[in-house]
Amino acid sequence: MNIILVGMITHFKCRLDVYPRSSVERFPVPDDKVSWAVDYKEYRPRNHTAQSIHGKPWADPEIGDPEFNPNWNHLDKNVDRQSYTGQYKIVDSYPLNPIGRTGIIGRGVLGRWGPNHAADPVVTRWKRLQSGEVEKDNSNKPILQFVAIKRGDTGEWALPGGMVDPGEKVTKTAVREFREEAMNSLVMPQGKINICEQKFESFFSNGEEVYKGYVDDPRNTDNAWMETAAYNFHDDSGHVVGALNLHAGDDAVGVTWVDATPDLQLYASHSSIVKEVLKRRLNAFSSV
Ligand code: BGC
Repeated sequence: MNIILVGMITHFKCRLDVYPRSSVERFPVPDDKVSWAVDYKEYRPRNHTAQSIHGKPWADPEIGDPEFNPNWNHLDKNVDRQSYTGQYKIVDSYPLNPIGRTGIIGRGVLGRWGPNHAADPVVTRWKRLQSGEVEKDNSNKPILQFVAIKRGDTGEWALPGGMVDPGEKVTKTAVREFREEAMNSLVMPQGKINICEQKFESFFSNGEEVYKGYVDDPRNTDNAWMETAAYNFHDDSGHVVGALNLHAGDDAVGVTWVDATPDLQLYASHSSIVKEVLKRRLNAFSSV
């Protein structure tokens, strides 16, 4: 199922003037020139691939390297080079961003040419009063909360998601990233994790897919882009993860339960994902 979220698909964050972690300026792309179907004769984007990704085990070699023979649009050994958006084009040996121009060519800081896959867990609970009753807002709607982390790179609040490892199932990535970034399972003593293991296993085996597709991420380029699959894990009683202590870990520098409001500002396309979850949970709440 490929769910398109309103407002998610157009390039906004990936046309902002300076490319992240660099001083490389993007070539200006007006709204009406994003689409490849529209001619843009003056378009001269700079080529930028960050030095830091060269030789990294998670990064592709350069295109043209005789050892590098990617199987575009396919599962390429363990690396998923398929896009949730369908078949993408290869132009002069380079994959082409399926949504359109970004003002930069090369890979920037992304490891893969073409799609780079991530997974996002949206872990939710109802906000409760001391009495245990669900708290309501001014318009008498129940308040939904989700777990957000503060990203170490941009300082923005975000879902505790991450990149899919080669060969890893996307749902597994979502859960692994939640543990690493929000529960700090990397440094938590083993025993402490085991106590909750069973409750955890069953809670995290019940995720609902809320989005699968392209992401308007500031790191995107004309030849490399982010895609994600987002899953909602809802703790209706608040007894499973709702009651857990959260510890920021891995790339995260802060973690907290945040009220899901419609005007929320988050990293990349995360606000659209959270809004979709809010809509679904409120519907489910009112139909009980
Ligand atoms: C993040 C995900 C995000 C994806 C696309 C990844 O680096 O960890 O949370 O959805 O990028 O922006």
